Amino acid sequence: MKFYRGVILNPKSDTVCEFMPDGVLVVSGPAGRAKIEAVLTWDRAQEKYGKAIRASNTFDFRDSVILPGFFDMHFHWVQDEVRTMPKDSLLQWLEKYTFPAEARFSDPAFAKARAREFFKRLARVGTFGGAIFSSIHDCALSAAMKESKGNFVIGNVLMTMNSPNELTQTEEEAIALTRKLLKKFGKRFAFTPRFAISTSPGVMKEGARLADRAGCFKQSHLSENLQEIDFTLSLYRGLRGFQKVKSYTEIYQSTGMLGSRSLLAHGIHLSRAELRILSRTRTAIIHCPTSNAPISEQGLGSGLFDFKKTERAGVRWALGSDIGGGPVLSMFDVMRSFVEQNARAGVKGASCIKALYRATLAGAEILGVSKQTGNFKKGKDATFLVVSLPGQGKPSQSTDAQSLLARILRTPGLDREAFDRLVQLSLYRGRIAV
Ligand code: GUN
Ligand code: FE
Repeated sequence: MKFYRGVILNPKSDTVCEFMPDGVLVVSGPAGRAKIEAVLTWDRAQEKYGKAIRASNTFDFRDSVILPGFFDMHFHWVQDEVRTMPKDSLLQWLEKYTFPAEARFSDPAFAKARAREFFKRLARVGTFGGAIFSSIHDCALSAAMKESKGNFVIGNVLMTMNSPNELTQTEEEAIALTRKLLKKFGKRFAFTPRFAISTSPGVMKEGARLADRAGCFKQSHLSENLQEIDFTLSLYRGLRGFQKVKSYTEIYQSTGMLGSRSLLAHGIHLSRAELRILSRTRTAIIHCPTSNAPISEQGLGSGLFDFKKTERAGVRWALGSDIGGGPVLSMFDVMRSFVEQNARAGVKGASCIKALYRATLAGAEILGVSKQTGNFKKGKDATFLVVSLPGQGKPSQSTDAQSLLARILRTPGLDREAFDRLVQLSLYRGRIAV
């Protein structure tokens, strides 16, 4: 057994986060497969484990915070280079910067080298689960599958129309690749039509059928931006079988893209009727606040996601960074943006506790792995982060989870990339990850 002593934060729901100013995470089992044995106060641990607690198996992080690894439920690992490129509008940013950047991943050596570097950085910021978009290329997906460490589903985007030549596949190629990768990677594979604009309905239909049959996740983008929605509807109303389609959501509904294993990023401009469809089909929305943020904050200016309306409609949701739409990899920055944007808009209820839940356990629940990971509980994976708060007094002086989290999310001031350096140490299943 190993004892990790520190200030423990254990997210449980939108309103509850366990807080132990002097707590211990008790971990047992071999590194790489280690599980949580108990989460308790240092005093209780002394009583319960007595002499089993020795200097040699105890790690003293009393000046640091211990919290579970993050789930980033929507990001593009192939967009690292365009995170901070000028973002005037979604469709222009895609054409001008993003597509050319993704095209470079056709080179296997390049893809391999980039994957090695990117996924090391992902572990360093404490993300050990989520849903990932890759480029259209087989070799980039394989590199991501090889280098990623955690509970991830990953898919190659499919682009069969309205896309630049070097990124355009035929429908036959898209389906053949889907079959091949589904077979090769099983449930780690996610069927990933980029969005309705770029993927023909026939490909979505056939791929969704294959994914459902294999029990795989499906993911795409939905209702991110008004210009995108207009273009999508006018495009589809000109296609056979879609002349009478009423909404963006209905396009995905009629191509089989919705369901309990469906993750749709953004969902900012949804009608009540659309939310009803998403709720009924148990489709999850992935909210990406740093990507949706104003252009002055290096976002795409897509608007503010209405989490209250979404929750009232009974639609499940979790947080994502949407790298490169979002500029910073750390989920701390995503949490901060969610809290700050809602506070600025006068929306109540976007607490730090809620942000932490939506960046951890909520993602694990949506991916169907919450029995095994997502927060601290006996029997779950020993996947956790040790976070230091430079120069701000001891975290143990905080009186509750909300105020401690508020302090963490304030730490770097204007330098948002400093969030990427907050994690001192991360352990994945009991093994030091980076
Ligand atoms: N919609 C279609 N593709 C993309 C993408 O790469 N990023 C974002 N933010 N939205 C998209
Ligand atoms: Fe995205």
